[in-house]
Amino acid sequence: MFSENLIQKLQNSKHVVVFTGAGVSAESGVPTFRDVENGLWENFDVMKIGTEQGYLQDPSFGWGWYEWARHQVFLKQPNPAHYAIAQLAEKLPKVTVVTQNVDDLHERDGSLDVLHIHGALNDVCCLYCDYKSTLPQSRIAIEVEQPISSPPDICPLCSSIMRPHVVWFGENLPSDIWQKAKEASEQCDLMLIIGTSGLIYPAASLADRAIYKKIESVQINPDATDIDTLVTHNFRGKAGEILPLLFEAAFGEMK
Ligand code: APR
Repeated sequence: MFSENLIQKLQNSKHVVVFTGAGVSAESGVPTFRDVENGLWENFDVMKIGTEQGYLQDPSFGWGWYEWARHQVFLKQPNPAHYAIAQLAEKLPKVTVVTQNVDDLHERDGSLDVLHIHGALNDVCCLYCDYKSTLPQSRIAIEVEQPISSPPDICPLCSSIMRPHVVWFGENLPSDIWQKAKEASEQCDLMLIIGTSGLIYPAASLADRAIYKKIESVQINPDATDIDTLVTHNFRGKAGEILPLLFEAAFGEMK
Protein backbone atom coordinates (compact mmCIF):
# COMPACT_ATOMS: atom_id res chain seq x y z
CA MET A 1 0.00 0.00 0.00
CA PHE A 2 2.86 2.44 0.82
CA SER A 3 5.84 2.85 -1.48
CA GLU A 4 9.37 2.26 -0.20
CA ASN A 5 10.16 5.86 -1.21
CA LEU A 6 7.48 7.22 1.09
CA ILE A 7 8.50 5.02 4.01
CA GLN A 8 12.11 6.15 3.66
CA LYS A 9 11.09 9.77 3.33
CA LEU A 10 9.13 9.54 6.58
CA GLN A 11 11.98 7.81 8.37
CA ASN A 12 14.56 10.34 7.22
CA SER A 13 12.60 13.57 7.52
CA LYS A 14 13.91 16.13 9.98
CA HIS A 15 10.80 18.30 9.89
CA VAL A 16 7.28 17.14 8.99
CA VAL A 17 4.29 19.47 8.79
CA VAL A 18 0.91 17.87 9.42
CA PHE A 19 -1.75 20.17 7.97
CA THR A 20 -5.20 19.15 9.18
CA GLY A 21 -8.81 20.09 8.58
CA ALA A 22 -12.17 19.02 9.95
CA GLY A 23 -11.79 15.51 8.48
CA VAL A 24 -9.15 14.59 11.07
CA SER A 25 -11.79 15.01 13.79
CA ALA A 26 -14.65 13.41 11.82
CA GLU A 27 -14.01 9.96 13.29
CA SER A 28 -14.29 11.52 16.76
CA GLY A 29 -17.85 12.53 15.85
CA VAL A 30 -17.13 16.23 15.26
CA PRO A 31 -19.05 17.29 12.14
CA THR A 32 -17.09 18.67 9.20
CA PHE A 33 -18.17 21.94 7.59
CA ARG A 34 -19.04 20.81 4.09
CA ASP A 35 -20.39 17.29 4.42
CA VAL A 36 -23.57 17.26 2.30
CA GLU A 37 -25.74 15.72 5.00
CA ASN A 38 -24.17 16.44 8.38
CA GLY A 39 -21.92 19.40 7.61
CA LEU A 40 -22.15 22.38 9.95
CA TRP A 41 -22.86 24.72 7.06
CA GLU A 42 -25.80 22.52 5.96
CA ASN A 43 -27.38 22.71 9.37
CA PHE A 44 -26.54 26.16 10.67
CA ASP A 45 -26.62 29.66 9.22
CA VAL A 46 -23.03 30.56 8.34
CA MET A 47 -23.93 34.25 8.51
CA LYS A 48 -25.10 33.98 12.14
CA ILE A 49 -22.27 31.86 13.53
CA GLY A 50 -19.48 32.49 11.05
CA THR A 51 -19.35 36.26 10.66
CA GLU A 52 -18.90 39.21 12.99
CA GLN A 53 -21.75 40.98 11.23
CA GLY A 54 -24.13 38.13 12.08
CA TYR A 55 -22.83 37.95 15.65
CA LEU A 56 -23.49 41.66 16.19
CA GLN A 57 -27.06 41.27 14.94
CA ASP A 58 -27.82 38.75 17.71
CA PRO A 59 -24.88 38.26 20.12
CA SER A 60 -26.87 36.08 22.54
CA PHE A 61 -27.69 33.63 19.76
CA GLY A 62 -24.03 33.44 18.67
CA TRP A 63 -22.64 33.20 22.21
CA GLY A 64 -25.17 30.47 23.11
CA TRP A 65 -24.37 28.53 19.94
CA TYR A 66 -20.65 28.53 20.73
CA GLU A 67 -21.30 27.48 24.35
CA TRP A 68 -23.18 24.49 22.96
CA ALA A 69 -20.51 23.70 20.33
CA ARG A 70 -17.73 23.93 22.94
CA HIS A 71 -19.51 21.49 25.19
CA GLN A 72 -20.17 19.08 22.30
CA VAL A 73 -16.44 18.99 21.51
CA PHE A 74 -15.64 18.58 25.23
CA LEU A 75 -17.70 15.35 25.12
CA LYS A 76 -15.68 13.94 22.17
CA GLN A 77 -12.45 11.98 22.34
CA PRO A 78 -9.38 12.06 20.09
CA ASN A 79 -9.36 9.28 17.47
CA PRO A 80 -6.55 7.09 16.08
CA ALA A 81 -5.54 9.85 13.64
CA HIS A 82 -4.86 12.35 16.45
CA TYR A 83 -3.10 9.65 18.40
CA ALA A 84 -0.89 8.67 15.44
CA ILE A 85 0.09 12.30 14.81
CA ALA A 86 1.08 12.77 18.47
CA GLN A 87 3.17 9.59 18.25
CA LEU A 88 4.90 10.77 15.08
CA ALA A 89 6.23 13.74 17.01
CA GLU A 90 8.09 11.32 19.27
CA LYS A 91 9.77 9.61 16.31
CA LEU A 92 11.11 12.62 14.41
CA PRO A 93 13.22 15.66 15.30
CA LYS A 94 10.41 18.11 14.50
CA VAL A 95 6.70 17.81 13.75
CA THR A 96 4.58 20.93 13.34
CA VAL A 97 0.83 20.41 13.41
CA VAL A 98 -0.95 23.21 11.58
CA THR A 99 -4.69 22.89 12.00
CA GLN A 100 -7.70 24.73 10.69
CA ASN A 101 -9.71 23.10 13.44
CA VAL A 102 -10.88 25.05 16.44
CA ASP A 103 -11.26 21.89 18.53
CA ASP A 104 -8.48 20.85 20.92
CA LEU A 105 -8.37 17.16 20.01
CA HIS A 106 -4.76 17.28 18.74
CA GLU A 107 -3.55 18.68 22.07
CA ARG A 108 -5.71 16.35 24.12
CA ASP A 109 -3.89 13.42 22.59
CA GLY A 110 -0.49 14.88 23.23
CA SER A 111 0.48 16.89 20.11
CA LEU A 112 2.34 19.81 21.64
CA ASP A 113 3.39 22.04 18.77
CA VAL A 114 -0.03 22.91 17.33
CA LEU A 115 -0.65 26.06 15.31
CA HIS A 116 -4.36 26.92 15.33
CA ILE A 117 -4.62 29.18 12.31
CA HIS A 118 -8.41 29.58 12.73
CA GLY A 119 -8.32 30.14 16.49
CA ALA A 120 -9.61 27.95 19.29
CA LEU A 121 -13.13 27.19 20.43
CA ASN A 122 -12.19 27.48 24.11
CA ASP A 123 -10.72 30.95 23.70
CA VAL A 124 -12.74 34.17 23.88
CA CYS A 125 -11.84 37.79 23.27
CA CYS A 126 -13.36 41.22 23.61
CA LEU A 127 -15.13 42.63 20.57
CA TYR A 128 -13.54 46.01 21.14
CA CYS A 129 -10.34 45.93 23.21
CA ASP A 130 -7.41 43.46 23.24
CA TYR A 131 -8.58 41.38 26.18
CA LYS A 132 -8.41 37.61 25.59
CA SER A 133 -8.89 34.61 27.81
CA THR A 134 -9.32 30.85 27.78
CA LEU A 135 -12.48 29.52 29.37
CA PRO A 136 -11.84 27.11 32.27
CA GLN A 137 -12.63 23.42 31.73
CA SER A 138 -15.09 23.61 34.65
CA ARG A 139 -17.20 26.00 32.61
CA ILE A 140 -16.96 24.03 29.35
CA ALA A 141 -18.02 20.90 31.24
CA ILE A 142 -21.39 22.46 32.13
CA GLU A 143 -24.00 20.58 30.11
CA VAL A 144 -25.53 22.42 27.16
CA GLU A 145 -27.91 20.09 25.35
CA GLN A 146 -28.82 22.33 22.44
CA PRO A 147 -27.93 25.75 21.09
CA ILE A 148 -29.95 28.30 23.06
CA SER A 149 -29.52 32.05 23.37
CA SER A 150 -27.24 33.10 26.20
CA PRO A 151 -25.94 36.63 26.88
CA PRO A 152 -22.22 37.02 26.11
CA ASP A 153 -19.67 37.48 28.88
CA ILE A 154 -18.70 41.05 29.59
CA CYS A 155 -15.11 42.17 29.10
CA PRO A 156 -13.50 42.80 32.52
CA LEU A 157 -11.35 45.60 31.04
CA CYS A 158 -13.75 47.71 28.98
CA SER A 159 -17.23 46.27 29.76
CA SER A 160 -17.96 45.55 26.09
CA ILE A 161 -19.24 42.15 25.01
CA MET A 162 -16.99 39.18 24.42
CA ARG A 163 -16.97 36.90 21.35
CA PRO A 164 -15.49 33.51 20.51
CA HIS A 165 -11.81 33.88 19.57
CA VAL A 166 -12.13 32.01 16.30
CA VAL A 167 -11.49 33.34 12.81
CA TRP A 168 -14.76 34.16 11.08
CA PHE A 169 -15.28 34.73 7.36
CA GLY A 170 -13.65 37.93 6.15
CA GLU A 171 -11.27 38.15 9.11
CA ASN A 172 -7.48 38.01 9.15
CA LEU A 173 -5.69 34.97 10.48
CA PRO A 174 -3.66 35.53 13.69
CA SER A 175 -0.52 37.02 12.13
CA ASP A 176 2.17 35.41 14.33
CA ILE A 177 0.66 31.94 14.01
CA TRP A 178 0.08 32.35 10.28
CA GLN A 179 3.67 33.46 9.76
CA LYS A 180 4.96 30.36 11.57
CA ALA A 181 2.61 28.13 9.56
CA LYS A 182 3.80 29.62 6.25
CA GLU A 183 7.46 29.25 7.21
CA ALA A 184 7.00 25.65 8.35
CA SER A 185 5.11 24.79 5.15
CA GLU A 186 7.85 26.14 2.92
CA GLN A 187 10.76 24.74 4.90
CA CYS A 188 9.67 21.24 5.91
CA ASP A 189 10.90 18.00 4.33
CA LEU A 190 7.44 16.46 4.06
CA MET A 191 3.87 17.72 4.36
CA LEU A 192 0.93 15.52 5.33
CA ILE A 193 -2.40 17.06 4.27
CA ILE A 194 -5.13 15.38 6.26
CA GLY A 195 -8.90 15.80 6.07
CA THR A 196 -9.33 19.17 4.45
CA SER A 197 -11.39 20.09 1.41
CA GLY A 198 -8.79 22.76 0.61
CA LEU A 199 -11.50 25.21 -0.35
CA ILE A 200 -10.90 27.93 2.20
CA TYR A 201 -8.12 30.43 1.62
CA PRO A 202 -5.67 31.59 2.80
CA ALA A 203 -5.48 28.38 4.90
CA ALA A 204 -5.46 26.11 1.85
CA SER A 205 -2.50 27.99 0.41
CA LEU A 206 -0.23 26.15 2.88
CA ALA A 207 -0.58 22.99 0.80
CA ASP A 208 -0.08 25.01 -2.40
CA ARG A 209 3.10 26.52 -0.96
CA ALA A 210 4.60 23.12 -0.17
CA ILE A 211 3.65 21.80 -3.61
CA TYR A 212 5.10 24.91 -5.28
CA LYS A 213 8.34 24.43 -3.36
CA LYS A 214 8.44 20.81 -4.59
CA ILE A 215 8.26 19.51 -1.03
CA GLU A 216 7.10 15.89 -0.97
CA SER A 217 3.46 15.68 0.11
CA VAL A 218 0.90 13.12 1.23
CA GLN A 219 -2.85 13.66 1.17
CA ILE A 220 -5.37 11.49 3.05
CA ASN A 221 -9.04 12.13 2.32
CA PRO A 222 -11.98 9.84 1.49
CA ASP A 223 -13.15 12.34 -1.15
CA ALA A 224 -11.54 13.97 -4.16
CA THR A 225 -9.92 17.39 -3.78
CA ASP A 226 -8.35 19.87 -6.19
CA ILE A 227 -4.84 18.73 -5.26
CA ASP A 228 -5.32 14.98 -5.83
CA THR A 229 -3.02 15.03 -8.82
CA LEU A 230 -0.58 17.60 -7.41
CA VAL A 231 0.47 15.81 -4.22
CA THR A 232 3.21 13.19 -4.35
CA HIS A 233 1.17 10.48 -2.62
CA ASN A 234 -2.64 10.54 -2.59
CA PHE A 235 -4.58 8.13 -0.36
CA ARG A 236 -8.36 7.88 -0.63
CA GLY A 237 -9.62 6.87 2.80
CA LYS A 238 -10.09 7.77 6.43
CA ALA A 239 -7.32 9.42 8.41
CA GLY A 240 -7.93 7.23 11.47
CA GLU A 241 -7.38 4.12 9.36
CA ILE A 242 -4.55 5.15 7.04
CA LEU A 243 -2.30 7.25 9.32
CA PRO A 244 -1.68 4.52 11.94
CA LEU A 245 -0.87 2.03 9.14
CA LEU A 246 1.49 4.46 7.45
CA PHE A 247 3.39 5.31 10.63
CA GLU A 248 3.59 1.65 11.65
CA ALA A 249 5.03 0.79 8.23
CA ALA A 250 7.72 3.43 8.81
CA PHE A 251 8.47 3.08 12.51
CA GLY A 252 7.15 -0.31 13.57
CA GLU A 253 4.46 -0.73 16.18
CA MET A 254 3.44 2.57 17.74
CA LYS A 255 2.56 2.83 21.43
N1 APR B 1 -10.53 11.26 7.27
C1 APR B 1 -9.97 12.18 6.44
N2 APR B 1 -10.69 13.13 5.82
C2 APR B 1 -12.01 13.14 6.02
C3 APR B 1 -12.66 12.21 6.86
C4 APR B 1 -11.85 11.23 7.50
N3 APR B 1 -12.37 10.31 8.31
N4 APR B 1 -13.98 12.47 6.85
C5 APR B 1 -14.16 13.53 6.04
N5 APR B 1 -12.98 13.94 5.53
C6 APR B 1 -12.70 15.03 4.60
C7 APR B 1 -13.82 15.41 3.67
O1 APR B 1 -13.81 14.58 2.51
C8 APR B 1 -13.48 16.85 3.32
O2 APR B 1 -12.62 16.93 2.20
O3 APR B 1 -12.49 16.21 5.38
C9 APR B 1 -12.73 17.34 4.57
C10 APR B 1 -13.49 18.35 5.38
O4 APR B 1 -13.67 19.49 4.61
P1 APR B 1 -14.40 20.80 5.18
O5 APR B 1 -15.70 20.42 5.81
O6 APR B 1 -14.44 21.79 4.10
O7 APR B 1 -13.43 21.25 6.37
P2 APR B 1 -12.08 22.09 6.29
O8 APR B 1 -11.32 21.78 5.05
O9 APR B 1 -11.40 21.90 7.58
O10 APR B 1 -12.66 23.56 6.18
C11 APR B 1 -11.78 24.65 6.21
O11 APR B 1 -13.63 26.13 6.39
O12 APR B 1 -15.65 27.04 7.21
C12 APR B 1 -14.28 26.98 7.34
O13 APR B 1 -13.20 27.74 9.24
C13 APR B 1 -13.78 26.58 8.70
O14 APR B 1 -11.57 25.69 9.25
C14 APR B 1 -12.71 25.53 8.41
C15 APR B 1 -12.39 25.80 6.96
